[in-house]
Amino acid sequence: MELPAFPLVQWFAAAEDRFDISLSHSDCEPLSVSDILSDAEQKAFADFPLGYGSFAGLEELRQSVADQYTSLKQDDVLIFGGASEAIYTFMRTNLNTGDEVVIQAPIFNSLKATAQAIGCRIIEWRPTNEITHEFDVSSLIDLCNEQTKLIVFNFPHNPSGQMISENELKAIVETAQRYDALIFSDEQFRMLEQPGTPLLPAACDLYDKAVSVTGVSKTLGLGGLRIGWLATRNRIVLKHAQEYRYYTTEMTNTPCQMLATQAMKHRVEILSRNRKRIVQNLKQLQSFCLRHENHLELHPPQAGSMAAVEQKTSFPSREFCQRLLDKQRVLLVPGEVMGISDRLLRIGLGRNGFKHGLNRLETFLHSISSEDL
Ligand SMILES: Cc1ncc(COP(=O)(O)O)c(C=O)c1O
Repeated sequence: MELPAFPLVQWFAAAEDRFDISLSHSDCEPLSVSDILSDAEQKAFADFPLGYGSFAGLEELRQSVADQYTSLKQDDVLIFGGASEAIYTFMRTNLNTGDEVVIQAPIFNSLKATAQAIGCRIIEWRPTNEITHEFDVSSLIDLCNEQTKLIVFNFPHNPSGQMISENELKAIVETAQRYDALIFSDEQFRMLEQPGTPLLPAACDLYDKAVSVTGVSKTLGLGGLRIGWLATRNRIVLKHAQEYRYYTTEMTNTPCQMLATQAMKHRVEILSRNRKRIVQNLKQLQSFCLRHENHLELHPPQAGSMAAVEQKTSFPSREFCQRLLDKQRVLLVPGEVMGISDRLLRIGLGRNGFKHGLNRLETFLHSISSEDL
């Protein structure tokens, strides 16, 4: 199996050490160990045993993950090294060459590229509008049939922040039930809803052949821990994933699982802080785009930690972002590397220092406006 390039990660890797401010990361402000552990807990952490852990993951972590869902038990959760490993392992253990997979597109690269590399027949569920990314669930339903093995989607959607309603999600579940298909729902940005946007149920709570994937990287700002999970009542899916892992990492590293467990105890408070920051940054972005309406148009998100902004300069977005990086040391992701329209830029709303980033972007816009006109 030959995996294709991963343009988004390649973009980040090429920019490493070349930026001071990111206006594009999808995670919320990263936390430190001292944000998670009290002084006494930090001392106790020094005695944390560093032997092998358990194959499915730390019991306490799996229990606190299960508690987030309405119908799951500890054994319905398998811990991985980030959602990335969970996605890859799920795809490798559930798909075979020739399987028919209906996938929302554009979507976070690995969700589609892995299935494609396995040799699946990919049927794309595209948005009704490639700039604003509204997705019409009735057209997804029309794409499904007796051959459909798996339906893959991501809401809140990265990077547009678009959502579907609970009734629409239930309609997808009914369709999957009708054709006895699996559902794989990437819920990395769930619980970062904008005020007024309802929380979508987790797919794993609605259907026993639905698998929810998420972790602590984005919503809790703990990407460095590399902790994610598969959550499903389908024990066969979990058994196969666990057995595949005997050939790779065997299990997830235990100190990071312990830190994630501690962070989960403060989850409600961390999430509320992160949601507030996203709302504030979005407000700033709204007025920034209005001030620069000749160059930028915001397509506001309903949820998640990102927004898509349409740029209207004469530069293709890749060049726009490259110049911004070179001149202002600000990182921005061009649409092209996410498989979305190259008129779009991905703006991350979850970090501190957003205003400083916008100030530098403003200086940059002034500097190019003479070239651009
Ligand atoms: C939609 C989506 N799924 C999965 C991942 C992978 O996350 P992790 O860092 O937990 O591996 C990302 C990371 O950007 C993402 O945006």
